[in-house]
Amino acid sequence: MLKERQAAYRSIEVTPQASGFGAEIAGLDLSLPLPPAVLEEVMAAWARHAVVAFPDQPLSLEAQEAFTRQMGGFGHDPYIKPMTGHPNVLELRREPDEKATNFGAGWHSDWSFQEAPPAATILHSKVVPPVGGDTLFVDAVRAYEALSPTMQAMLSPLQAVHSARQSYGTKGVFAKDTEKRTMQIIVSKEADGSLTHPLVRTHPVTGKKALYVSPVYTVGIEALTPEEAKAILGFLFVHLAQERFIYRHKWREQMLLMWDNRCTMHFAEGGYDGHLRLMHRTTVAGDVPV
Ligand code: SIN
Repeated sequence: MLKERQAAYRSIEVTPQASGFGAEIAGLDLSLPLPPAVLEEVMAAWARHAVVAFPDQPLSLEAQEAFTRQMGGFGHDPYIKPMTGHPNVLELRREPDEKATNFGAGWHSDWSFQEAPPAATILHSKVVPPVGGDTLFVDAVRAYEALSPTMQAMLSPLQAVHSARQSYGTKGVFAKDTEKRTMQIIVSKEADGSLTHPLVRTHPVTGKKALYVSPVYTVGIEALTPEEAKAILGFLFVHLAQERFIYRHKWREQMLLMWDNRCTMHFAEGGYDGHLRLMHRTTVAGDVPV
């Protein structure tokens, strides 16, 4: 693995993942506020690698909240009851005896049904099961760049329709959920609504273009018939989820992971029935996609 320390950074040590997507960042104590120059380096590494892991960070909820503020302030997390006394923190908890599908078990980019979806999601691992529980990420920039110029030109002017309805709507998967679940999900009529975002999104920092669709939250394409939209989205969902675009994140306890929702999608893999998995999650506010 290549270390980028000498090349680009003075205060942090950045080790890109072998997959060529994602990186690990060492040399920091995230329980303390980051000085401006260090923060700048973290932001630069994050822009470059999209999914950055900070190992060995035993953080309190307050420290995770403070780090989230430093990264740009809180996003709005709907449809899930937050932690008592911490309105911006979600506890992703699945008990050993839970049978309900684990939270996040489908490819998605967080809250893409919002007008200004979160730029980042920050997940801190408190209890990691001995098997399973990986989080998979797709590099949606490389997936876009792998398309033919003709396909890119066809997709670029399109607006994709996003909605929370398949998950949190009145007829969504959580409304039909009969298994006991520790996390308190709030099914809502509001989730049945929809809005549009560019199907190809330009990253506000890197200027790179990325596919911005996902099977969980993208339900159509504006100005196309449902059949046409289904065919194109079906192709894109298969195209995006190819092994060559994926980074598989393996958790260790007390690791903080921050990913960029503007150019990735992710999938929380199960496979840990019989074991507790416990994470704390915050989001960073983002812009209206362009
Ligand atoms: C999520 O989709 O935010 C959950 C990711 C995970 O639990 O690994």
